[in-house]
Amino acid sequence: MVVLERSFISIIADLLFCLMKSFFVYSAGQLKYTRPYLIELVYLDGIQISNLTLIDSPSWNVHPIYSSNIIIQGITIHAPVRSRNTDGINLDSCTNTRIEDSYIVSRDDCVAVKSSWDEYGIAYGMQTQQLVIRRLTCISPTTAVIALGSEMSGGIQDVRAEDVAINSKSGVRIKTGVGRGGFVKDIYVKGFTMHTMKWPFWMMGNYGSHLDDNWDPNAIPVI
Ligand SMILES: *[C@@H]1O[C@H](CO)[C@@H](O)[C@H](O)[C@H]1NC(C)=O
Repeated sequence: MVVLERSFISIIADLLFCLMKSFFVYSAGQLKYTRPYLIELVYLDGIQISNLTLIDSPSWNVHPIYSSNIIIQGITIHAPVRSRNTDGINLDSCTNTRIEDSYIVSRDDCVAVKSSWDEYGIAYGMQTQQLVIRRLTCISPTTAVIALGSEMSGGIQDVRAEDVAINSKSGVRIKTGVGRGGFVKDIYVKGFTMHTMKWPFWMMGNYGSHLDDNWDPNAIPVI
């Protein structure tokens, strides 16, 4: 069991000072490398992240990938609403996750649910499944509270969200396109309080970007 909690805050504060600079360098087009994620967890089983405040991440804030049995609770995430790709919690090919009692402000999606990209995601075939989101407050003026995709080629299923308060452009947003393959199914939401909402539910089937030219034009996602 990996437990990240308050005692880590001072370490993270030092890290943040270095990391946040990279966003401004990115904006100026001067960055030579990809912006780093703030917390990246790969191939873990049994993770708890509690009671942390994450400020000004240069890119995605919390990114568990290929992991299972995850609890994320009592997290405050604050990214400037002009900073691109600063997703709050970005869950990628993970099984059995609970996200609760959290507050997220971001320019990008508050919770992004993913399962890898195009032909690579189809070949790997690792779903994101059994996700529960509850008691979340999300401020994300131009994107979504819960986004499914656009990388969803391994499949996404069994997502339940309840008691979510929102100030965003959309509530639940599915992003996909030809070549993505995979599926999105069994998504339930309940008790959403929506403010300044443009689209409570928003789906795009022409989310065009591809990783490279090897994507399969016959890989049609099933939604
Ligand atoms: C997080 O904070 C809450 C409220 O103060 C407390 O009840 C809980 O035990 C804390 N969690 C951890 C893992 O310290």
